[in-house]
Amino acid sequence: MKFEYPAGDNPIDRLEVVGRPSDRLDGPLKVAGQARYAYEQHEVAPNQLYGVAVGAAVGYGRILDIDTRQASSAPGVEAVITGRSAGQLDIGDFYVASALAVDQVEHYHQAVAVVVAGSLEQAREGAARVRVRYDRQPGAFVLKDAVFAAEAPETSPDIDIGDFARGFADSPVRVDEIYETPDQSHAMMEPHATVATWSGNRLILWTSIQIVSWGLRDLAKIFAIPQEDIRIVSPYIGGGFGGKATVLSDAVLAAVAARHCGRPVKLALERHLQVNNTTHRPATRQRVRLGADRDGRLQAIGHETWSGNLPGGAAERSTIPTTSLYAGAHRMMRTRVGRLDLPEGNAMRAPGEAPGLMALEIAMDELAERLELDPVELRLRNDTPVDPTSGKRFGTRRFAECLRTGAERFGWHKRGTRPGLVVDGDDFVGLGVAAAIRGNNVTNSAARVRLRRDGSLLVETDMTDIGTGSYTIIGQTAAEMLGLGLDRVEVRLGDSSFPRASGSLGQRGANSSTSGTYAACQMLREKLCAAAGADPARADFADGQLIDRGRRVALRDLAADGEIVAEDGIEFDPARGGLAHQTFGAHFCEARVDRITGEVRVTRMLAVCAAGRILNPKTARSQVIGAMTMGLGAALMESLAVDPRLGLFVNHDLASYEVPVHADILEQEVIFLDHLDEHSSPMKAQGVSELGISGVAAAVANAIYNACGARVRSYPVTIEKILPHLPLA
Ligand code: MOS
Repeated sequence: MKFEYPAGDNPIDRLEVVGRPSDRLDGPLKVAGQARYAYEQHEVAPNQLYGVAVGAAVGYGRILDIDTRQASSAPGVEAVITGRSAGQLDIGDFYVASALAVDQVEHYHQAVAVVVAGSLEQAREGAARVRVRYDRQPGAFVLKDAVFAAEAPETSPDIDIGDFARGFADSPVRVDEIYETPDQSHAMMEPHATVATWSGNRLILWTSIQIVSWGLRDLAKIFAIPQEDIRIVSPYIGGGFGGKATVLSDAVLAAVAARHCGRPVKLALERHLQVNNTTHRPATRQRVRLGADRDGRLQAIGHETWSGNLPGGAAERSTIPTTSLYAGAHRMMRTRVGRLDLPEGNAMRAPGEAPGLMALEIAMDELAERLELDPVELRLRNDTPVDPTSGKRFGTRRFAECLRTGAERFGWHKRGTRPGLVVDGDDFVGLGVAAAIRGNNVTNSAARVRLRRDGSLLVETDMTDIGTGSYTIIGQTAAEMLGLGLDRVEVRLGDSSFPRASGSLGQRGANSSTSGTYAACQMLREKLCAAAGADPARADFADGQLIDRGRRVALRDLAADGEIVAEDGIEFDPARGGLAHQTFGAHFCEARVDRITGEVRVTRMLAVCAAGRILNPKTARSQVIGAMTMGLGAALMESLAVDPRLGLFVNHDLASYEVPVHADILEQEVIFLDHLDEHSSPMKAQGVSELGISGVAAAVANAIYNACGARVRSYPVTIEKILPHLPLA
């Protein structure tokens, strides 16, 4: 089904099931331990062996020799496979680092061998006995040592609109500052894990992945086999955050080992391997220049960002939010990537927007201060109905409404107009605000629906649920379309034998995959009408019945002779109605800073999100609350510490890589404007999850400044960066 703009009325508008706060369909399975994650797939392939990866002990260098003799003779060890014995392995389309080093080590903890044994303990013992000799070579590990490309990467061309240099120089009020964001780790609960087995030339994997079809594409390239010969099964995923977009070393090593041993192999990356073996969000250095007239109208906006990566690796595209957020005639954006020999930098939790807004939205706070203008008002004055870079109108842009609603609901008028004005006991108390913007993108998605003989409905699609609620909103969509209760719908996800969906990435999964389900259900409705001799233009579906001009036929009766199956997908026009598609929001934060110790406590957070129709306010709220929590982590805690000599992230476990917990935030609130976007999809929804993190860290940093006057431009905002700004006790 082609999506025709604008959407017009359709059965989803009834909102009998969609738009309601249904509990997660997978909830009971998860609390009962019945939702099987990849590593728990014991029965699917009997006679499993255990694989353990050996990570490189140098950040950059050559492998001189791998002595596998002691490992091979360890009890229970079946095989020790190195890059030399693994056979030819390519890289996929999304990551640039190899899953298994052959001669050259590209980054610390890159796999150099995999040990396979009858038990996990035996495999671990074997791995400990692998002896590798390296020729350690000097690498570039610190962002300031990276040699930056002179040219923009293809994905982020330079933007020059008007005359930035003149516009900035002519502006009476200016900000020109450098901001830094650190390397960060996804730190998902479920480690990367795979069970792999071969049946002849056919490879089957039970793995933890966000986009099943990317896994097929990349495994086909890595192993030089047809995609048709691969099956991926991934029904439950314990968090991804961009770090499981497609297959990583666990999948490749398990498949290599299973082929070598002729038996199924199970392999999880041990926790300490996750950080350096896989990918992370790369550190950035950003220069933001804002020039405004005395009324606070932006004349010139300059945003430059530098990040590092392995050769060929992507840049962190921090200027993305700045292209579209504020008006301003003179604009200049630069994205540069330099070579670093750290582990690969890649997508994490709103790549581009999240780190970009960490810089831009502090700069806006600094500009507001210089203008002696309220930060909410400054943002309102620079609202624009047209994307200032592309010149396209926005499909929807409720940014001003988000700011005004949030200011009112958060009690913004209580904010001190200068730092240090609001004191409560030993604490300075401050309020901060930041804008949120994140692309509203869509991907063609398909599904198959089966009306079963008992009148229940089965939905099958390779969409994934990474803990987000996909099962539930897809079930709600199908129930709405066929006039069934949610309890009459079963949803099966994450299997490449099902029709191809968007997968989970870039906050596009919910809107795209429910639209694919919509398309399949629309086809099923037509088939049922044909079977009942009903007019599809007039027929209605409600209470498990097809209703046509007063005549009611039970769906169960239509399927009495055998299930009725329909498969279709949604196809989006790449031009998407010629509009700019973005989601908008506003984040508010209340922070208390102990005036003696500099300790920060975030007492209140509020997100106001304009993200189209909210398909399920409960799962959407959970998404945003989780995202806000991660934004708090970015503001106050999360940071991978680079060892500049050895080229590794030192704090590579959950004890030393600090993330927020419940006790770190006293109160979180989410408000959805819940409007319709007729140009986004038949669901009239948009993306919502990553909007929830975009801007959060700056709102926290701005609240800290408003509380105590500590303007910290280098994240995370830790006590030692705050203390020098505090008055002596
Ligand atoms: Mo998200 S980093 O687009 O999975």
